[in-house]
Amino acid sequence: MELCLHQVRGRAAPLSVTLRQCTREEAETVYRLQNEVRAMMPNPELFMPDTLENIQSYLEHDLCLGVWDGERLGAYFILRYCGHSEHNYAAFMGIPEAEWEYWANADSVIVHPDWRGNGLQRILLEDALPLLRPGIVGIGATVSPGNPYSLNNAKASGFEIVSRREMYGGHDRYLLAKHL
Ligand SMILES: CC(C)(COP(=O)(O)OP(=O)(O)OC[C@H]1O[C@@H](n2cnc3c(N)ncnc32)[C@H](O)[C@@H]1OP(=O)(O)O)[C@@H](O)C(=O)NCCC(=O)NCCS
Repeated sequence: MELCLHQVRGRAAPLSVTLRQCTREEAETVYRLQNEVRAMMPNPELFMPDTLENIQSYLEHDLCLGVWDGERLGAYFILRYCGHSEHNYAAFMGIPEAEWEYWANADSVIVHPDWRGNGLQRILLEDALPLLRPGIVGIGATVSPGNPYSLNNAKASGFEIVSRREMYGGHDRYLLAKHL
């Protein structure tokens, strides 16, 4: 799908980009963007990084949408099907285990600073919805209370805060859910 970014590096400058699913072969590009963007964050603790191996697995078994300008990846969103694993955010929401397989995790979203301000976090989520595995009834997510950009976007996309708790070995996070 073609998109038009209306600003680049905060300045009005239309840029045609392509939003499409990323393939396993593109895992290194996704991994590099993750590391590049995280290294630029004033507080990297807000974003839990993943290993290349995990990203390869997500691209193979889950869903990753990317925004591309030719060969340049500038944004991505990873959504995971965690089923009965303890990593399923449904497990922290009091949802019975029999229903976990119908919940997906909004795992991570990254927009390069050059492309911020185009609403890409919201667009990526919206465009992922029709691609979800059949039967999914809800999406769980976590957002740091110190990450207002991500939190505002999640709320604007229909996520509601379920609780505030420690996740990932002691990190303060809001746990959010969106019912489909
Ligand atoms: C969270 C994130 C994906 C949002 O990017 P986005 O979809 O481009 O954000 P929006 O289009 O909603 O931006 C709205 C406004 O906030 C600004 N903004 C967005 N993220 C910002 C950030 N991290 N720092 C400063 N300003 C930011 C935008 O420039 C824009 O400003 P404008 O209205 O003056 O043009 C992006 O900030 C990011 O990649 N952060 C690092 C990774 C992260 O925290 N991911 C979420 C946890 S998994």
